[in-house]
Parts: sequence; structure tokens; C-alpha cells
Amino acid sequence: MTGARSLVTVRRAHAADAGGIAAVHAEVWRNAYAGILPAGYLARLSPARLAAGYRRSLSLREPGHAVFVAVGPDPEAGFRTIGFVSGGRARRPLRDGAAPQGEVETLYLLDDWREQGVGRRLMRAIAAHLAAIGCRSAFVWALSDNPSTHFYRRLAGRLAARERIAFAGAEVEQSAFLWSPIEALLAATAPAPRREIEG
Ligand SMILES: CC(C)(COP(=O)(O)OP(=O)(O)OC[C@H]1O[C@@H](n2cnc3c(N)ncnc32)[C@H](O)[C@@H]1OP(=O)(O)O)[C@@H](O)C(=O)NCCC(=O)NCCS
Repeated sequence: MTGARSLVTVRRAHAADAGGIAAVHAEVWRNAYAGILPAGYLARLSPARLAAGYRRSLSLREPGHAVFVAVGPDPEAGFRTIGFVSGGRARRPLRDGAAPQGEVETLYLLDDWREQGVGRRLMRAIAAHLAAIGCRSAFVWALSDNPSTHFYRRLAGRLAARERIAFAGAEVEQSAFLWSPIEALLAATAPAPRREIEG
């Protein structure tokens, strides 16, 4: 897919994106969480059921909440959803305090599109949204065994909490990565400056 990345667009999601988002969710979970979550749970993931849930929440347009999709070229469909990110005001703040915190709730990208800067672009989109709604800091929870923890560290996220939770029929550890102030995330996801053509 190298070379095709210049054709990737990142935009706010609409209810009509629910099917594409659900397909990415199911595909990424089956790969990324194999060996972490129970195999039976992953096998039972239903894109149709997931799509219904996403359609409901995208139609509700809960204040402050946003979903962004990355859309990329596809040999069969022309274009398809290749990743998405969602977030809003923290569902459960990481710290007590007056400053509003933002939470990145989900971030998923198809395997074929990894390591081409699309994850960073999605994080940029949600960081800009969270800053725009007044969040002074942002955090994300990730399963501690998930390689995405390296991605969040690479984007200057600071390990701020660890906890054990019951999830999908398993007991797992999750880690929270924090950007405080939120400008730390905006800086780490800033688009690279265009290279001048020498000549
Ligand atoms: C995590 C994820 C979104 C990263 O997306 P991506 O498009 O591959 O990441 P990018 O190409 O934008 O990478 C940004 C930087 O992080 C680094 N990086 C990305 N994934 C990494 C990994 N697994 N380990 C180490 N570094 C990583 C990249 O090398 C790049 O470094 P650079 O600044 O030197 O260029 C993607 O791997 C994914 O969807 N994983 C599966 C689902 C998942 O675990 N989601 C998170 C749930 S909390």
C-alpha cells in the first residue's frame, strides 16, 4: 500500500460510515487482540451488530463526542474505511481536578495500512477536536500487552496509571497514557513540514 498513503483522507464520520467502521473494528480486534482476549469472544464479534451500535451513537451526536474516519483506496471498492478514532470529554477522569480532560476512546487501523502515518493523523484529528471543546489534557487507555503502547509512547504519551479490569471474559491489565497539557499531543502529531525541492 506504500505510495497510496497520499490518497488517504481523514474526516469527521457520519451515520453512513457505521458499516465501514464496524468492519474495521471486527477485523482489527480479531488480529490485535488474539492471544490477549478469549478466542470465542473474538470469533463471535458481529460486524452487523457492531454497525447497529455505531449507527446509533453516530446519529445521537452526543455533545463533545466525535468520530473521525480514515478513508483509503481499495482495489475492489474504490475507497473504503481503513481506520477510525473516537473520543470526547473523559468518561471517568484520570485525575481529580478542575481542568476538563479529554479521552481518546478507540483507535483502530487495518493491518495493511500500519506504519504509514495514518495513526498519527487520526490522533491529530481527535487531539484538535478535544482541544477545541476545551480539554486541557488528554489520555487513552490501552491493554498493557498491546504493541500500541509503544505508539502512544512514541507520540510522547506519559504512562500515568495502570489497573486490572475484567474485559470480554478475561482479566487484563490496562495502562493509561497522558498528554498534559494537550499541546504535547498536538505537537507530537503535527504534520511534517513539506520538503523544499532543491534545484
Ligand atoms: C496503534 C495504531 C493505530 C498505530 O497506527 P500507525 O498508522 O501504524 O502509526 P503511525 O505510522 O502513525 O506511527 C507513528 C509513530 O509511531 C511508531 N509506531 C507505530 N506503531 C508502533 C508500534 N507498534 N511499536 C513501536 N512504534 C510504533 C511509528 O514507527 C511512528 O514513528 P516515527 O515517529 O518514527 O515515524 C495501529 O498500529 C493499530 O491500529 N493497531 C491495532 C489496534 C490497536 O491496538 N489500537 C489501539 C487500541 S488502544
